[in-house]
Amino acid sequence: MKAVIKGIGGYIPEYILTNQELSTMVDTTDEWIMTRIGVKERRILKEDGLGTSYMGTLAVENLLNKTGVSKDEIDMLICATVTPDMLFPATANIICDKVGIKNAWGYDINAGCSGFIFSLTTAASFIETGRAKKIILVTGERMSSITNYQDRTTCPLFGDGAVAMLIEATEDSSVGLMDEILHVDGVGRQYLFQKAGGSMYPPTEETIRNREHYIYQDGQVVFKYAVSRMADVSVEMMERHNLKASDIAYLIPHQANLRIIDATAKRMGLKKDKVLINIEKFGNTAGTSIPLVLWEFEKKFKKGDTLILSAFGAGFTWGALYYKWGYDPV
Ligand SMILES: CC(C)(COP(=O)(O)OP(=O)(O)OC[C@H]1O[C@@H](n2cnc3c(N)ncnc32)[C@H](O)[C@@H]1OP(=O)(O)O)[C@@H](O)C(=O)NCCC(=O)NCCS
Repeated sequence: MKAVIKGIGGYIPEYILTNQELSTMVDTTDEWIMTRIGVKERRILKEDGLGTSYMGTLAVENLLNKTGVSKDEIDMLICATVTPDMLFPATANIICDKVGIKNAWGYDINAGCSGFIFSLTTAASFIETGRAKKIILVTGERMSSITNYQDRTTCPLFGDGAVAMLIEATEDSSVGLMDEILHVDGVGRQYLFQKAGGSMYPPTEETIRNREHYIYQDGQVVFKYAVSRMADVSVEMMERHNLKASDIAYLIPHQANLRIIDATAKRMGLKKDKVLINIEKFGNTAGTSIPLVLWEFEKKFKKGDTLILSAFGAGFTWGALYYKWGYDPV
């Protein structure tokens, strides 16, 4: 038995933060951001008092409408996020409550920008062992809530959005999640983190004054790790399954930086038309970035298409999935 994605819903906030507007907030230019990162604009959830669960709830409602599945059939909801509504309770619980899902249990997963590949693997384990029948996997980020809009080295990168997927079992062993290679390395905690607000550095006037509740990143170190780890693990997945570039329908990489994506595709020997990208419109939405690509390009995929999904993120966390798409365009 394999676990397979049966449908995708999504929600992106309306507000578009362009490079032009960013250049009025920090010393930057559209040209620098496009050349060094590849982002033109990103979506921002502007309204006060709304968090990741707001977008996640709308994504789940979109999914349920699209698939026609009843919320009473859902037995588990997992939410991958680094920007939960609150440190507790879990955003998964809040989404269940807002949608009216009453028969499920669930929890949040924090795996940085690898949130989707880690949580799809987790969901697949529950499905493959028969412990759950219908899982909703939500990835959602309000990255703007932890982005320092006074720091030009990080603020052009990030955006907001949410995607929800229905994960079920299939007896057809030629589709679904075929394999995963996943890693963590705590060395990354010194290069990419949100220092304050947790149990080690609870909020104080000083942590607020020092702007320690925002993302800190040593961009060059993270870049070097991301380029080598994402490419290594994607090539390892190809070798493990004797996959040639011609066997792969699409690479769907985490959308952090166009240069990291290009380097990964090059190592895999893939031409540009096999690499799906929407970083220009949405920026880096952490664990939501691969799902946003799947959501936007859903109609491109045919049953049996071989996909490699690969990501790198805070932790460090990284890995690659070998996935065979489960349905024809609807
Ligand atoms: C953040 C990142 C885009 C910076 O690009 P970079 O090429 O490494 O740039 P550098 O940090 O070397 O900075 C080069 C110069 O550009 C400047 N600069 C930085 N941000 C700038 C901006 N937004 N606009 C204009 N100039 C900028 C720097 O101050 C530096 O100037 P200096 O040479 O006078 O000191 C890049 O390091 C990166 O993408 N890192 C990985 C990010 C990532 O993937 N994070 C998430 C992992 S999930």
